Amino acid sequence: MNTTEFFQQLWADYTTLTPQAASIHELFCDDNYTPRNDHVAFRTFNISPINLLALEVHLLRMGYRRYEAYQFEEKKLEAWSYSHVSGQAPRVFLSQLQVEKLSKPAQDIIQGLVKQVEPAQVGEPQVFWSGRLWSPPSWETYNQLLAESEYAAWLSIFGLRANHFTISINHLPEEPDIQTVVNRLIQAGYNLNTAGGVIKGTPADLLQQASTLAEIRPVTFAGGDTHPIPSCYYEFALRHPDASGQLYDGFVAASADRIFESTHQHPKAA
Ligand code: NI
Repeated sequence: MNTTEFFQQLWADYTTLTPQAASIHELFCDDNYTPRNDHVAFRTFNISPINLLALEVHLLRMGYRRYEAYQFEEKKLEAWSYSHVSGQAPRVFLSQLQVEKLSKPAQDIIQGLVKQVEPAQVGEPQVFWSGRLWSPPSWETYNQLLAESEYAAWLSIFGLRANHFTISINHLPEEPDIQTVVNRLIQAGYNLNTAGGVIKGTPADLLQQASTLAEIRPVTFAGGDTHPIPSCYYEFALRHPDASGQLYDGFVAASADRIFESTHQHPKAA
């Protein structure tokens, strides 16, 4: 599978679940311009057959190389970033939850979900937009996970798919400026993630980011009851040149840590 098809499929899945993303994309399009994607991010559990090592095989086959490792101690996450050898395809950020760091009851819930995954479902790149590979947990189980790890609760419902796409501010047709982008989103009525400030990172960090709050979508839980919960969000990234004059290619752990919180419950979810 080539990267063009890979990202088309991811986009189709992402905008089906989160229609707001298509509207935001439209907001930054004009007759001659379509926004460039800086990166997509995925979430998974560190349990075979869906752990990071199992999933990255497909990225490596498409020409991606591991670039940098990240740790998020408080959230019990670890991640790798991937860059494409061509320099032309979007970066990929792949994180996994360190399930053994959760309580025994939460570990048991997650083991019960991953046990339902057929290894064959993981053997093709389609796994990246396969969604939930297990039957939905109950509302009660979801909340049990939520109390320990928002990431685990989100993943138990939405599964393997793009958690967010990211508009590259560097490639916008106007002067690259993250505050202008933020203003345009606020004017259009979108709620932004304010954790750690609306704009995360500084020019000295070489990466500045902002993101919307995840769109609230109704989800049907085991037992048939439906509740609105946060789905996916859109991110915006402005990269700055490093000492050698190259645009920075990595991520900033402190900012990524707060970007994860874009799927946290917020007042509109009530
Ligand atoms: Ni991101």
